[in-house]
Amino acid sequence: MNLILLGPPGAGKGTQARMLQEHFGLIQIATGDMLREHIKHHTDLGQLAQNYMNQGQLVPDLVVIQMIEHRISEADANNGFILDGFPRTVPQAESLDKMLARRKLKLDHVIEMRVDEDALVERIAGRFSCAACGEGYHDKFKKPAREGVCDKCGFGQFVRRDDDRADTVRKRLAAYREQTAPILPYYQAKGKLTSIDGMAEIDVVQTQIRQLLRPQA
Ligand code: AP5
Repeated sequence: MNLILLGPPGAGKGTQARMLQEHFGLIQIATGDMLREHIKHHTDLGQLAQNYMNQGQLVPDLVVIQMIEHRISEADANNGFILDGFPRTVPQAESLDKMLARRKLKLDHVIEMRVDEDALVERIAGRFSCAACGEGYHDKFKKPAREGVCDKCGFGQFVRRDDDRADTVRKRLAAYREQTAPILPYYQAKGKLTSIDGMAEIDVVQTQIRQLLRPQA
């Protein structure tokens, strides 16, 4: 099964993708996480991407398309994947179709997570993640069970993202409206798109997605 999770910054794509990954044995392919790894390791790609990301702009299509093409060629992607943060423009969506066709793979679902803009800002402002395993948390909505300790790996340090500052978040939301929202009709026309209520609690959103993915009797 191959899925796309679509939605504005803070919609919960990463949170839901990680839960689906565990439940269905799919791999999560998150372009934002991949780019942040490049930045962390000071690669050329990371240096290029950092300038765009810190300004809340999209990284050029060619860079992310090549990154995804390489990732879905790896053996573990054959068992199914969840794309989180890709595609984000119509040219990226068109390239993905070609990549999948070349590999005789199909896209099963495109899930749009709808969340009000005020809630997005609150979610992003409160977000932090484990510095070791990357597990995501929130000051109000998803605290670690034991304060200061990651539920998943037990590490005791957390990080906040550089692009989660209020002014950058506004630019990321504008980039979503202007460059990413136009791919919704692209997938609607292909009969692949389902929109879900991303305003519900994390577990309720997960249940909505699993119901959608369950084979129809
Ligand atoms: P990326 O890392 O993909 O960021 P994003 O799309 O802005 O999405 P976020 O990670 O901010 O949010 P999310 O939807 O995953 O929410 P989360 O689950 O964390 O991209 C960063 C940058 O990289 C881009 O700006 C761009 O520059 C570049 N980039 C990446 N991909 C690219 C591409 N394809 N093309 C070009 N450039 C690209 O949830 C947020 C918080 O809310 C968490 O704290 C969570 O605990 C909480 N939360 C989640 N769900 C709920 C809920 N239902 N109720 C309450 N709280 C919730």
